[in-house]
Amino acid sequence: MPGMDWFGDEERREVNEVLETGCLFRYNHDALRQGRWKAREFEAEVRRFTGAPFAHAVSSGSTAVAAAMAASGLGFGDEVIVPPFTYIATIEGVLLGGGLPVFAEVDDNLCLTAESIEKALTPNTKAVMLVHMCGAAADMDSILALCERRNLVLVEDAGQALGAFYKGQSVGLFGVAGAYSFDFFKIATAGEGGVCVTNREDVYHLLHQFSDHGHDHIGDNRGMEQHPILGTNFRLSELHAAVGLVQMRRIEQVRDRKRSAKQALKDRLQAEVPGLGFRPMPDAAGDSGTFLNLFLPDAAAASRAAAELGSRGAGVNYWYTNMYHFINQWDHLKNLRSPFKMAIHHLGAPQDYNALELPQSQHSIGRLISLGIRTNWTDTQIDELGATMVDVLRKHC
Ligand SMILES: Cc1ncc(COP(=O)(O)O)c(C=O)c1O
Repeated sequence: MPGMDWFGDEERREVNEVLETGCLFRYNHDALRQGRWKAREFEAEVRRFTGAPFAHAVSSGSTAVAAAMAASGLGFGDEVIVPPFTYIATIEGVLLGGGLPVFAEVDDNLCLTAESIEKALTPNTKAVMLVHMCGAAADMDSILALCERRNLVLVEDAGQALGAFYKGQSVGLFGVAGAYSFDFFKIATAGEGGVCVTNREDVYHLLHQFSDHGHDHIGDNRGMEQHPILGTNFRLSELHAAVGLVQMRRIEQVRDRKRSAKQALKDRLQAEVPGLGFRPMPDAAGDSGTFLNLFLPDAAAASRAAAELGSRGAGVNYWYTNMYHFINQWDHLKNLRSPFKMAIHHLGAPQDYNALELPQSQHSIGRLISLGIRTNWTDTQIDELGATMVDVLRKHC
């Protein structure tokens, strides 16, 4: 998965262009920068690839989620439906913005569903923070219909799903605002970085203003810019943008390689491992190809298979027990441990996070193992990996 699989001279050249000018900052210093605007070019590449009318680069996927929340008008006391399977950044984004996370189930597509969202609705539900997990889209038709019917604000955390499309439309562009991550683990990296996208010009202005202390970015006299709103500093440096820009230029090639390696492995496992399950994607053609998601018969089998694959050099993610991605390990959230009082401490949690019952999510994520698809595998390596996986998975299915 990491963008680091394919990294080299082009990235170095773009970074050097920034270093040559000494202008490491995305705003102003027009004379110093000699016409080099890497963050702007990075955003243009994201717009080109996703089809987003507006894109704004920020310092991380986490700050992209926080900016998307803010620009969607979500804040103090707003109940926001979230999944229990995501990176914790999603939940932190809601909490830090003053929101109150309400957990709903994910299913074998690893995302919230219209049905699970509907079941979790209360009279106070304001929004859905939809996460397109593990490189592919949620079931958008039904979720959009529900949001429309129940007047819910839709925000998308597409942190793990840049490169995924649903019926021809990039994830991140279905709601008011969407967020991508460019950390080390993603299909494209900037070292650290994130990008917010939106279809709406008014939301775009809130995104870039909020991410830079409310500055309106009009004119070239930084000291005299207006600041119509309060905000903070989520700015991306030109050095990071230079890397992200190059990675975006080649994202189609990266995605094609991932898709073909994934397809080869999937075809083989489907033919040779009876009883193995695969992620049922609502639009398989739009899959980014970053993960091959497999289901074992039960959690014990998945845990054993993950351990054995790891020991045979075919490491997979077993999210169910890792510290980051599944609610079972989020004791800090369950006990609302933070260094300061957030809205949730004053208003109370909308659910008892220590007594949540999410049987479908436990069932889905317990059985799930995910193989991160690398861009630099040779055909021989794919063959060898396939053989190891068949050998191991047959024993556990
Ligand atoms: C779904 C999701 N959202 C947000 C993030 C946060 O991204 P970053 O690490 O760039 O802050 C991640 C990172 O893994 C993620 O997987």
